[in-house]
Amino acid sequence: MKIVHISAECYPVAKVGGLADVVGALPKYQNQLGADSSVIMPFYDNVFTRKHEFESIFSSKIRLGYVEHDFNVLKLTSDVLDFDVFFIHIPSLLFRDYVYSDDDVDRFLAFQIAALDWILTLKKKPEYIHCHDHHTGLIPFMAQESYKYSSLNKIPVITTIHNAQYQGWFNYHHLYKVPDFDNNNVGLLDWNGIINPLASAIKCAWRVTTVSPSYMEELMVNANGLESLLRAESAKAVGILNGVDTEVWNPETDSYLIKNYKSTTVEAGKLANKKGLCSEYKFDADKPLFAFIGRLVGEKGSDLFPDAFDIALKNNDISILLLGSGDKLTEGRLEVLKREYQGKYNAYIGYDERLSHIIYAGADFLLMPSRVEPCGLNQMYSLRYGTIPIVRNIGGLKDTIIDIENDGFGFVHQDASVKDICFSIERAVEFYSNKKELKKTKKRIMQIDHSWGNSAEKYMQLYKSITITK
Ligand code: ADP
Ligand code: GLC
Repeated sequence: MKIVHISAECYPVAKVGGLADVVGALPKYQNQLGADSSVIMPFYDNVFTRKHEFESIFSSKIRLGYVEHDFNVLKLTSDVLDFDVFFIHIPSLLFRDYVYSDDDVDRFLAFQIAALDWILTLKKKPEYIHCHDHHTGLIPFMAQESYKYSSLNKIPVITTIHNAQYQGWFNYHHLYKVPDFDNNNVGLLDWNGIINPLASAIKCAWRVTTVSPSYMEELMVNANGLESLLRAESAKAVGILNGVDTEVWNPETDSYLIKNYKSTTVEAGKLANKKGLCSEYKFDADKPLFAFIGRLVGEKGSDLFPDAFDIALKNNDISILLLGSGDKLTEGRLEVLKREYQGKYNAYIGYDERLSHIIYAGADFLLMPSRVEPCGLNQMYSLRYGTIPIVRNIGGLKDTIIDIENDGFGFVHQDASVKDICFSIERAVEFYSNKKELKKTKKRIMQIDHSWGNSAEKYMQLYKSITITK
């Protein structure tokens, strides 16, 4: 089974969030199940591409409206990844030191056209094209409707929605850049009077998936304007829970950690990592350590943190460490809090892969009060590292975390509110004092299996079901 994933991100090449983790793991696990699964992604000017060598395996030009751009398909010269990654190198558009910016319409349209142009030339074409998020949302349409790709229109295209908040909308004045198609079908690109790549993907893809069953249910009711479309297309839509790449996220071998550990050595292992963090941030390692890692955006509920932390730090003898960046107002408020709560609270505003791993290992509790959480990987990483998650009952968090009261292993609250965050923190503080239960729970959560095996298999079944029904 030959599958190509097409994505803007893929760990460890380029990562902004969980999309990279998924695209960096799913092909590997599909290959373990006997598939020939690879990735097509943009060639960015970043640490990974500067550190490695590439060879060109294809050269051509793409036409974006009236302008031609040179492009190459590059491959790594060494076997540093567990699956093939083909890089679309368009020096004039994609080769930047960022993944996303405000010139994304041309950049990702060019990426998608170049990817399809190259696929068109392959002797052995993929049997399935698997697109991820709106940056690849026009591929289902182009593969089905653009005259130049008519020989691809029998290849099933699957779209996975990682986050329906972002849809990639753009104005009709860019329409001439989409390779020619029958204008009677322009409606397949449209949602509410503008071109909407995610909506177009939902209409044209042979199957639509999202990254947890609960998020699929939620999308039918609220999908940032696409809910009626999803309901209309529900027969081809399914939610498949993401997994954990247990080779990357393994406290026993994780080279970022201060001390490695497994479930039988969780106490000593976590304590060493906690002490490391506490000495770096001047916290008292005896107090419960709460953490947050992620994008500081409304979906993650991060705007609630300044007030919630202020109250929680006043009322409880705890430490809080935050790692993330995003909304400038929230960043500013989180910075200001540092002055008031020295030795109890700190925030690293930025992105730091190493620190994130040490936090998963060293924290006692991980906060995720998300307003929207299609899957969420952090809570699964935190389980694997023996850190108890505190989550809102939504999306993938609902599918993965059970409250301690219900014989579970986490703290689950209903609202994305300051009140609910503070109440959960208080429950966690009380739980922290019950050393026996705490110890048992840490051990137990490390053994929960969220590895990719099951979900990779579900995707394979989904692909196969398409062949049968079409
Ligand atoms: P999303 O994709 O919505 O941001 P996920 O929970 O699916 O959320 O995945 C987030 C991924 O990005 C995880 O691997 C997490 O550890 C990582 N991450 C998020 N913010 C940071 C940061 N500031 N520094 C390091 N890693 C981060
Ligand atoms: C998105 C979602 C997140 C999910 C990730 C990977 O960024 O916000 O919940 O885990 O994609 O699918």
